[in-house]
Amino acid sequence: MVNSYIFAVLMQFEILVVLSKPQVPCYFIFGDSLVDSGNNNELVTKAKANYLPYGVDFPEGVTGRFTNGRTMADMIGELLGFDEFIPTYASVTDQQISKGVNYASGGAGILPETSSYLGDRIALERQLSNHNGIVSRLFGLQENTTFTNEHLSKCLYVFNIGSNDYLNNYLLPKFYNTSHIYTPHQYASFLVRQYCQQLKKLYNLGGRKIVLFGLAPIGCTPIVIHIVGTNGKPCVESINDIVKKFNDKLRLLVDELNRDIQDANFTFINVSHISSVQKGKLAIRCSSIMPWRNVPCCEVTENGQCAHTTTTCRMRMLSIYFDGVHPSEMAHNVIATSSYIALSEMNASPYDISHLIRL
Ligand SMILES: *[C@@H]1O[C@H](CO)[C@@H](O)[C@H](O)[C@H]1NC(C)=O
Ligand SMILES: *[C@@H]1O[C@H](CO)[C@@H](O)[C@H](O)[C@H]1NC(C)=O
Ligand SMILES: *[C@@H]1O[C@H](CO)[C@@H](O)[C@H](O)[C@H]1NC(C)=O
Ligand SMILES: *[C@@H]1O[C@H](CO)[C@@H](O)[C@H](O)[C@H]1NC(C)=O
Repeated sequence: MVNSYIFAVLMQFEILVVLSKPQVPCYFIFGDSLVDSGNNNELVTKAKANYLPYGVDFPEGVTGRFTNGRTMADMIGELLGFDEFIPTYASVTDQQISKGVNYASGGAGILPETSSYLGDRIALERQLSNHNGIVSRLFGLQENTTFTNEHLSKCLYVFNIGSNDYLNNYLLPKFYNTSHIYTPHQYASFLVRQYCQQLKKLYNLGGRKIVLFGLAPIGCTPIVIHIVGTNGKPCVESINDIVKKFNDKLRLLVDELNRDIQDANFTFINVSHISSVQKGKLAIRCSSIMPWRNVPCCEVTENGQCAHTTTTCRMRMLSIYFDGVHPSEMAHNVIATSSYIALSEMNASPYDISHLIRL
């Protein structure tokens, strides 16, 4: 773990020093709380993280990020050579939009009704309409259609969404009927079809380099383990199996889109694989110091978020989860670096991000 952290730091250092400007002119982020950097702050919802201990390790402190430090989206931006974090849709100015926007919203799902019981959120379809508005503004500001089209085709677009369609929809039969209507297999197909519609909208808005993050093993999150129980096993495998159906179909969608849309490139990041390799390494390195477990790093409320408190676990660098659901900055770092330069084809396919941006 320490080695991979140092590797990540060295890699960022090298890239920042070698390059004077970012490797892509712009970077757009779509998704949920895994990559939200403050879009929910002004929304009426329980899915908010603009209070301590969130941000305890972030350079600017509390921002609305659902972790202790930077998110994987932030770190990918650093690896690309951006010297500032991509602004939120809620705060972005005309001067900033040409470099990219972060549309992500905690609680957001592929389905509009996902997480509705928590309050407001910007679901995927609304994120795409917000992007439509931004693209129109950009065409207006740049006053040269050819230039703007070329600009948008060089940007990196990342998507990290779908976890809430399980955690805050399918796995909550008390509030949602999707698990009565669909088998896990049918639900995964349904989600991926909806996702595909939104990706085609992005393509029509000029997106050509598109990264789709698969879902993490949700059955390993502390909140799910707490609610469902595991009989001593590290994870709830039945839930991981349900989520795996979505990942498998998303991976197939990437192949389909790459085949059908000739002038765009899509890639898939296998977050489950990256997480399991990381956990294996942690287990080996840490077993002599302490038993490694899927536990949060803060005091957690019933919905899995940190309670309003300033106390956290002392060794945040050794914790995979920060609260009951969200990864720590360390885990974000491992995912960001493994998706940027994939040491194995299992991590990213058909390309890692460093290759995708050079196509
Ligand atoms: C518009 O942008 C294109 C591509 O960058 C450039 O070749 C062209 O000269 C620009 N047109 C004007 C009128 O500036
Ligand atoms: C399931 O719930 C949605 C609202 O969330 C409703 O529109 C739909 O009719 C319900 N379907 C069934 C079969 O109960
Ligand atoms: C990647 O995009 C380029 C065009 O930008 C295209 O020629 C190539 O076939 C694409 N590769 C795949 C695997 O889709
Ligand atoms: C992701 O990696 C795991 C191995 O850790 C593998 O079992 C799974 O099939 C992969 N998922 C996809 C969609 O490629």
